[in-house]
This record gives sequence, structure tokens and C-alpha cells, in this order.
Amino acid sequence: MDRKRIGILTSGGDCPGLNAVLRAASRASEKLGWELVGFQDGFEGLLSTTDHMILDRRITTGIMHLGGTLLGTVNKGQFISRGSGRQASFIPAEVLGKTRQTFQSLNLQGLIVVGGDGSLNIALQMHQAGLPVIGVPKTIDNDLEATDMTFGFDSAVECVASSLDRLHTTATSHKRVMVIEVMGRHAGWIALHGGLAGGADIILIPEIPFEFSQVAAEVLRREREGAKCTMVVIAEGAKPKDGRVSRLQNANGENRLGGIGEIVSREIGNRTGKEVRTCVLGHLQRGGAPTMLDRILGTRFGIKAVQLIAEGNFGSMVSYRNHATCAVPISDAVHKMRRVDPRGQLVEHARAVEISFGD
Ligand code: F6P
Repeated sequence: MDRKRIGILTSGGDCPGLNAVLRAASRASEKLGWELVGFQDGFEGLLSTTDHMILDRRITTGIMHLGGTLLGTVNKGQFISRGSGRQASFIPAEVLGKTRQTFQSLNLQGLIVVGGDGSLNIALQMHQAGLPVIGVPKTIDNDLEATDMTFGFDSAVECVASSLDRLHTTATSHKRVMVIEVMGRHAGWIALHGGLAGGADIILIPEIPFEFSQVAAEVLRREREGAKCTMVVIAEGAKPKDGRVSRLQNANGENRLGGIGEIVSREIGNRTGKEVRTCVLGHLQRGGAPTMLDRILGTRFGIKAVQLIAEGNFGSMVSYRNHATCAVPISDAVHKMRRVDPRGQLVEHARAVEISFGD
């Protein structure tokens, strides 16, 4: 009889901490006497007879501190087909058929899908089709409802805060306004945490629509009171009251969130007469070494994922609640976004240290 195996893949946008999950899952599988098979390039690796590798100790040693993912990842591919109505996207039947063959030929006891909302939706469909799948949540945006925290978020916040430290010195020297656009999709977690940690003066988030007049008034108030610079952190999904989110088209014709930083800079410049500069942090927030917290969280998620497979707890997702890992149904996690509460304590505390939300 073939040796028992567990499959694992990373799907969707990469984030720091993925390699910590792979390393931990490899060790936990080894303890069970099972092999961990890593599929390359997300779900696509399941469709090939060659795009996988045994993630043994030799391969997974010395990878925890590395950003990105050893397995590669994609955020589109053959597993997504557009439908209509409630079934907005589904896995085509022939793709499911090939996936079943892969499970059989490799003697997979279960598959760990490490991904964000879209990838977990695919994992859910695989589970509903009878495949033994479990999910591990991953996103720098920290916007999944079913878990208190995802790994990658802390590294993104660290990037924003340390960038603010750098930008502060140049902004102060020139007495400028600096507008820093950060990621996070339609949630303001990265902007709020990064801005708080980096000493921002104005934080603009999707959950609190802002007014240009209020932002400009705050810049001028600060100047009157002797401030040498004003640091504005803006989430890519933030929008003005009665306005729309800003999108930019890339070379492939895809519409992506972005551009709001430049719009706000222009308005501040026009309304205050001050010199303003924009800095878009972009993918710097997703790259590089994971923070210590993300290494630990990734490790704990990897261990828990293998435990869930060993217990046969399929269709569930690793979650982090009250400082401990636990399991929740994947169906509780997909399509449920967790956003900043505009009346919550974090916003209240930010206001208490005189941070303006431009409202
Ligand atoms: O969801 C993670 C994220 O980094 C978002 O914050 C951002 O909007 C998006 O992915 C960028 O995606 P891509 O790498 O495809 O440009």
C-alpha cells in the first residue's frame, strides 16, 4: 500500500507567513508518519502529474523567515468558471474529475488549501463535491469574519509603520503633507493599525467616508498650531462622502483598487496651497520577511491544519479565536467580510490621540 499523504497548496495573493505554514505542516505530517505533498501554482498544480513535490524536512528547513511561498501561487485559473445567479462561480466538472484522479493516484488523505476568500470558496465547493479538504485563512487585509486574525497582516502593518517613520523625516524637513496609500481592499485594518503605529495625523478608511474640506481644514489647523508636517494614511478602498472608490486599469485591462492617494493629494494641495507628495506602498506590504508574530501564527495554523486532517474534520477552516487556534466551517468564513467598526474602540482610541478621519 502506498504511503499516506496530505496535500497542500497556496492560492491567491501571496503574503508573509506562508512558508511558516508549509514548514509546520511538513513537520506535523512527518510526526504522523505521513508525507506532505505540495502542489505548485495554487489549484492548477492539482491538474498536472508533475507540478508537485514532497515537502520533507530537507525542503522545508530554513524557509520560515522567507516571504512569498515556496509553492508559487496564482489568483486565476481553471478552477473558476463564471455561472449565474446564486452559483456565481463554480468548478467545471472535468476539472473536478481530474482533481479526484490526483487524490487517488497520490493516496491523499486530505488537502490543505491556504488562501483568501476566493480560494476558500473553491475549497468549499471541493468539499461539497465530496473531497476531503480543509482551509487555512490567509490575507494581509485581515478582513475575514471567521477568524480574529490572519497571518501576513502584522507584516503589512510593520511595513506601513516603518515607512511612516522614514517618510516623517523627509516630510518634516520640507514642511510638506505626505499622503501614503496602503492596501486592504474594502477594509481599513492595514491603514488604521499601520497609521496608529506610525504616528499618522489623518487616517482615511473605507468604513468612514471622508470630506475633502475636513481633511484640508485639519491640515491647516495643524499648521496653525505649529506642526511641521502632516502625515495622511489612506486605504486604497477609502472614498469621499458622495464619491466612489478609485480604480486603475492595468496593462491587461484589469480594474484594480488604487489612485485615491493621488486624488486626495491634489485636493489637499488645491485647498491649502501646501506642498503635497504621494507615496503608494503597493506590494512592498506583501513582500519580504514575515514578522515574528506572523511566523508564529503561520506555524500554529500549519500544525492545526494537519490535526484537522488527521481527525477527519473536513470542510472546516483553521481559525484563531481568543489567542488559540480552533476550527470553524469553511461555509462560515467565505463571503463574510470583517470591517472596522466606525464606533468601535480602535477608532475611539485613534480619535483620542487626535487622529482625524476626515469626517
Ligand atoms: O488581498 C490582498 C491584496 O494585497 C489587497 O490588499 C490588494 O488590493 C490586492 O491584494 C492586490 O492584488 P494583486 O497582487 O493581484 O495586485
